[in-house]
Order: sequence, then C-alpha cells, then structure tokens
Amino acid sequence: MDRRLFLTDLSRYAALAAVVPNVWRVTNRPRFADDPFQLGVASGDPTSTGGVLWTRLAPRPFEPDGGMTGTRTVVSWEVADDDQFKTIVKKGRATAAPELSFSVHVDVDGLRPDRWYFYRFTSGDAVSKIGRLRTAPADGAKTPLAFAFASCQRWDQGYFTALGHLAQEEIDLGVHLGDYIYEYASPSTAVRAHQGLEIRTLDDYRRRYAQYKSDIDLQAAHQRCPWLVTWDDHEVDNDYSGLIGENQMESAEQMRTRRAAAYQAWWEHQPVRVPRVQSWADLTITRTINWGAMARFWMLDTRQYRDDQVCEDVPLEGCAPWTDPKRGLLGASQEKWLVDGLGASKSHWQVLANQVMMAPYDSAPGDEVRTSMDQWSGYPVARDRLLNEVARRAPNRTVTITGDIHTNWVNELRSDFSRPDRPTIGAEFVCTSISSGGDGSDVAAERMSAMQSDNPHLKWFQNRRGYVRCTVTEQDWIAEYRTVPFVTKPGATVSTASGWRVEHGKPGIAQVES
Ligand SMILES: [Fe+2]
Repeated sequence: MDRRLFLTDLSRYAALAAVVPNVWRVTNRPRFADDPFQLGVASGDPTSTGGVLWTRLAPRPFEPDGGMTGTRTVVSWEVADDDQFKTIVKKGRATAAPELSFSVHVDVDGLRPDRWYFYRFTSGDAVSKIGRLRTAPADGAKTPLAFAFASCQRWDQGYFTALGHLAQEEIDLGVHLGDYIYEYASPSTAVRAHQGLEIRTLDDYRRRYAQYKSDIDLQAAHQRCPWLVTWDDHEVDNDYSGLIGENQMESAEQMRTRRAAAYQAWWEHQPVRVPRVQSWADLTITRTINWGAMARFWMLDTRQYRDDQVCEDVPLEGCAPWTDPKRGLLGASQEKWLVDGLGASKSHWQVLANQVMMAPYDSAPGDEVRTSMDQWSGYPVARDRLLNEVARRAPNRTVTITGDIHTNWVNELRSDFSRPDRPTIGAEFVCTSISSGGDGSDVAAERMSAMQSDNPHLKWFQNRRGYVRCTVTEQDWIAEYRTVPFVTKPGATVSTASGWRVEHGKPGIAQVES
C-alpha cells in the first residue's frame, strides 16, 4: 500500500476508534450463533490466472449486521485442485468488516490458465460450501467457450428452478444481466413474500440480498462456475435513469443517497472485480472480461449514465426529444470506451453484456409506431450510431446478450434501423426471466407472424421462463433457449425450446435442430 494512503487510512480509523472502541479489534476465533456461510459462496470475473472469490458472514441474515457482533472477523480461504482439498494450491486470510456487511472478496492470482479449481472458506469452526472457479484460457488461445446467461429473478413471482437447472449445465461461465433482486414490497398474492417493504436504505438492500442469496438454486448456480454480473434497474428502483427515480417523488439528492445504498449492497454481494470508490453512488461497474482470444465480454451499464426516458413511454407524433442525437443510454464516455475498444480488440467474438433490448420492436400494426421508451428504441439515434460503429469495427462477430424484458427474443441487428434496407451486422439474443412474470404462456403462431410483419428483423419470440446456453467456437455461435413450463411451484423440468446459429463473419441468424 502507498504510504500516504496508508496514513490517511490510519487517521480515519483513529478517528473512528474514538467513537467505536472495537474498530481495531480483529476476531481470529469467532463463535457464531448459526452457520455464518448460509448465504453461499461465489466466484467471478475470471482471468487466465485467477478470479474473485466471494462470501459473506451472516449467521442470522435478517438481523442487523447479519447477526454478527460488530468486530472485524478473520476468514480463511483455500483453493485446491480437487474437491477433497488434498492438493491446496493457494490459501490465505481475509478480514470481513462490518462497514462492508462482513462480505469477503478475495482476488486470487497465480493459478494456471484454462482449468477448474475448487475453493472454500473457513471462519472459527465454520466451513463454507465448496464452489468451483474456472480460469480463463491464456491470452491468445482460441479455446471454445460454453456459457449461460440469465436475468430478472423476482423472488415473489416464482421459484428459481431455472437457476437450479443452469447449475447442472456443462458450462464454463454464467453471465447475469441484471434484476438480480427486486426492490418492491410483496402483494398478499405473492408466490413467496419479500421480507419488508420497498427497500430504500443500506440495511434494507442488504436484507433483500440476504433473502435472495438464501435461495438454494441461486447458490447452486454460483457454486457451479464463475459469473460475470452487471445490473439493471431493479437493483435500485424500477426504470430509474441517473438520479431520476420511477415515481419522481424522490429528489435527486434522495435518489443519490438511495443509489449509494443500492450500489454498495450490490458490490458487497457480488463476486466482482470492481474497484471501490470514495462515493458509492458513483460506482463504475463497466469492465471487460476476456476468454482467451475467443471472446471479450463488455459489461455495460445502461442505467447510471442514461438520459431520462421521454414521451410518456410512447413516441407520440411531434415528440421531438425522442430523436435528439444528444440523448443516450451509455453516456458519452462509456460509448467512447466501447466503440474505441471494439476497434482495438483482436478478440474473435465481441460480446455486449447489455440490459435493455437493442433491436426495436414496434407493437402497433401498420404505419403507427409504438415502442418502448425504456429500451434502446427510446434512444434511436444513439442506437443507430452504435450499430454503425459495430458494422465498421466488428461486423457479424459481435453478439449482444440482453435481459430485462422477461421474454425470449432472437433479433438480427441492422447497421441502421431507420433504414430497413441496411444489412444485418450482428445478432441479439434476449433471455427471458428466471421467475419474473410468473409461469408465462404459449405464443400462438399467428401472433408470432403478426409480430414479424412489422418487425422483419425478429426471428423468434417466446414467453416461458429460463435462460440461454451458448456454445462459442471459431466457426460459429450456437444459442439454445432453455425453458421451464412453470415457476409458481417448484420442480419443473427444463427443455430446449429452440436453437439458433450465427456463423462467424456472416450476416444472419439461422434456426438449428435442437
Ligand atoms: Fe426484470
């Protein structure tokens, strides 16, 4: 640590120590009222030599401080070649601190590329479950990748059965595109109720994460493989943009306080390599993760930097702001970072880990346009500007993966959607929810063709819950839509609803036998 930084830190703790006498104390041999590891373990953001390991000590998850006594607590960690921990290759100690809800983030380095490891934590007499970490292939290696992506797991609308099935897949990686938690209070009709009212404070958000992290299917999915996690709106507030909340009852200052609480709790509960900042409200989570030279994931944030939604969610005739070229979803600096990066990257595939649907969807028949103002379609100039850059820099080897919308979509991306004659330059696979929206329903063939007549870039649509499994090689990208028939009770089986193929360097998406 830099000496000056250390001294600043020291003086801060000294000041704290005056009011909180036990701030210096570190508990080496803690005794816990209950299992402190009941929120599970996770790994994430793998590199070719390591990854982030996560857990949080919470023996009584819904009590203040998760039932911890308030002192800093030592947690040991081990990484092994085998699940019996006979060959331990790395180990160390971390301190779980009350100001970070006793969460633990260990950034392990010095492992070998392209292989599986096992990890676990211990504290006092308590031992965590065992998780798996897979390191990425070495730089330059074009090793195939199998991964799954998911989004939108609303606790009170259904069981996370699909995550339990995802945990059985032969995958290297999971990607979560946001709506990991929902902020609402639950109605009396809920499948299983959220604890507490709508969440606004740091303690509220922590308790909500604790409830979600207690889910056994969610824990299994995290134990299975490393995850890349980004966020959408419900990690803070439905449809928020920047410092503007859903119902606009909260001032910008109140939203800033709420956002700081929400972002901090997100950080505390996710296995991410995201540097902490002075002010939690300004936490930046955009980052890239490489899978050798095969794929680069661009973890995007389309909430924090966006301009507010306009036109009452419908692009009414004469609503000029809709097409204002200054409005965007990424903000200027994230857009530049992405566009410059797409040009410079030598990666075989570029993967945009995105939240809201990028392809437009016009739900009104005929000439009338009716489209979501919360998605990229509400920012058409920024969308077409980005797609034009994709066309120039990485055409037909850029795949956008998207969540948010609680339904399955396969969309061809055009270089300019304002001109339908423009060519296809990319693919968008949109995953349905894990549970949000409940069981879902079948889609009649007539409805699909009606949707396609106004939206020729739409290849497929479906309304069941699940996730998308992808197999990525030098030649092609296969996306399989894995769905469950119900979520309002446990025990659904999983099956493949349909499969799609993008050939590297070639325009278009073709259906495959599955
Ligand atoms: Fe959602």
